[in-house]
Amino acid sequence: MLSSLKSICFICSNLIPPEVINKIFDIASIEEVVGEYVTLKRAGANFKGLCPFHDDKSPSMSVSPSKGIFKCFSCGEGGNIFQFIMQHEGLSYPLAIKFLANKYNIKIDEGQIDVDELKEEARIKDGVYACLEFAKNHFHERLNLSQDGKVIYKPYLTERGINQLTIDHFHIGLSGSQRDHLLQEGIKNGYTSQQLFDAGLVKKINDDQGIIESNLRDTFLDRIVFPIFSVSGKVLGFGGRIIKKDTKAPKYLNSPETVVYEKRKELYGLNLCKQSIRKNDAVFLVEGYMDVVSLHQNGVDNVVAASGTAFTEEQARLIKRFTHQVTMLFDGDTAGVNASLKHIQTLLSADINVQVVLFPVDDDPDSFIQKRGSSVFHDYVKDSAKNFVDLIQEVKLAKGTSDPIQKAEAARLVAENIAALPDPLKRAAFISETSSKLNIPEQIIIAEVNKFRVNNRKQKDREGRRVQQENKSVISQGPPSGFEYQPDYKQSNTHEFIDSKNYQEEELLKTLILHADKEFSEDLTVAEFIFNEFEEEQIWPISEDFRQIFRDAHTHLKEHKVLNELYFIRNAASSKIAAEVLSVRHNLSKGWEDNYEKFVKSDQENYKSQVIDNLNYLKLKHIDLLMKENQEKLKIAETEEDVTILQQVHDNLLKIRQKITDQSGTVIS
Ligand code: UTP
Ligand code: MN
Repeated sequence: MLSSLKSICFICSNLIPPEVINKIFDIASIEEVVGEYVTLKRAGANFKGLCPFHDDKSPSMSVSPSKGIFKCFSCGEGGNIFQFIMQHEGLSYPLAIKFLANKYNIKIDEGQIDVDELKEEARIKDGVYACLEFAKNHFHERLNLSQDGKVIYKPYLTERGINQLTIDHFHIGLSGSQRDHLLQEGIKNGYTSQQLFDAGLVKKINDDQGIIESNLRDTFLDRIVFPIFSVSGKVLGFGGRIIKKDTKAPKYLNSPETVVYEKRKELYGLNLCKQSIRKNDAVFLVEGYMDVVSLHQNGVDNVVAASGTAFTEEQARLIKRFTHQVTMLFDGDTAGVNASLKHIQTLLSADINVQVVLFPVDDDPDSFIQKRGSSVFHDYVKDSAKNFVDLIQEVKLAKGTSDPIQKAEAARLVAENIAALPDPLKRAAFISETSSKLNIPEQIIIAEVNKFRVNNRKQKDREGRRVQQENKSVISQGPPSGFEYQPDYKQSNTHEFIDSKNYQEEELLKTLILHADKEFSEDLTVAEFIFNEFEEEQIWPISEDFRQIFRDAHTHLKEHKVLNELYFIRNAASSKIAAEVLSVRHNLSKGWEDNYEKFVKSDQENYKSQVIDNLNYLKLKHIDLLMKENQEKLKIAETEEDVTILQQVHDNLLKIRQKITDQSGTVIS
């Protein structure tokens, strides 16, 4: 964590003025920033929610509005609003600042962000996002203003019942009709061929040739385009529908995967519908762009689509951040049924409650609601929503049949779905429901469910071993040359630091964060005492990264005459550690809570001895270093005299060391 933070401090202190950063801190509350991505529930003075940084089964993330921090007690991720955005949006620190500044309409001088300082990857992504935003506006304008838009495409949408408000709300647009329309417009507006290519907006004519203008053409031609947004509202790509009939081209064309668009992780409509999904604590999952748009226009605005891809685990997890109730609205044809059966298992595995509504053949949610209106739509949904047991019974068993083979097949499919449920109570409930509905003894269904569970487990193990094997080979190869090794911070947690070589510095920093402005002696605060000791005893932290954090805090104290936890929360280099020491677990059992209270109380009373102990540890670290240096000198000493002196130094150091360990009652090897 710390090695990358130095450059962060450099950027933030030199380029983006602290006033801007503080203004963002003042306006953007942590619960609002995190709440954009995760549903938060109150837990005392804090909030809790599912951590978006790992596959969280029960809410492990705590968000403290009063402190402005988040902390996951499972994967260890934590920090202030900027760390959250950096992690979640994959942005560098300056870009995270820019991101939140834009969101809260805080003016920021682009020149203050030194683009050369940004990581290469962040720079590429930034260019791609800009291109996509440009394309979105360009397409939208073309639909509204061009001749084609006015006489062909807009009337087409109107005929399908889509009004201007909806067109604007979803930023629906129209792509060009010449093969390099967007390419030329993009270049005119300052984007490079490479950026347009990276954004998936243009593609190569000849694969063997390079990314030069003459070898590129627009990806989308003569299509109504639906921008696909990230949860936070950044354009990631497009889905385009052709309306010409005399063509072999596919009806829908989607953006390719790019550095910013991973299809399996996105859901169409989520950014515009998430508030409503949360409010309703339910979401409709549909098949297509038009279903989302059309339902939304008719007042059903808690709706998303996987749009043309297989529904993935990642998408299920994304939904789970906002609600646990999914109602799938699918076509009643065979393709629709089969797709819905596949989706159900993915949703059930993610512990999401799922219902299915199949629409009459020849109808989809869009055409149904346009024809019959939203009240009939709601009635239909209410009357025909089924769980998977009923759905399978309906589609796999001919009406009134007693054919044992059909029944066995249906039962097996139901068992496979029950096996996907992580919750044993839900499994038990569905087993008994299935038993009575299909008239098959429970024991037989249980045996079948267990067979699937064993198989799933085996497959997972195999998968796990494969991933492990792959990781092993990556590790043994080492990092590619020219790359700085970056540890995976997602794996890091508190325990990791225990053996780390900066243990002493870190413990002292934690003490400082917790107690900086408390009284240490009559005329000194804890912070003042610690910094006095650093200066007088010459024991500034040895680790360069920590030394920098302490030095910055010292400067802040001298300049502002105050130093408290707020400083450490807002300071980029210390906020992760601040989140760690200042967050309180929300799901404490009662007994635990009492113990915790005692612990906190004793911590509050004992902070002075903690300060002394931690300073002593640091002194010992310095002494050990001096002793080591001395030993090295002894090894190469040439005269008797030198040896005697060095030995005296050694003895003295040992004595001091002994004194310190006696004082703190600790022996450190
Ligand atoms: P549909 O063919 O059901 O289209 O495909 P639709 O959504 O009802 O659209 P309209 O009403 O004909 O305009 C459903 C979804 O499958 C994906 C798209 O995401 C589409 O919205 N799809 C379909 C493709 O990706 N490519 C295709 O060629 C067709
Ligand atoms: Mn349709």
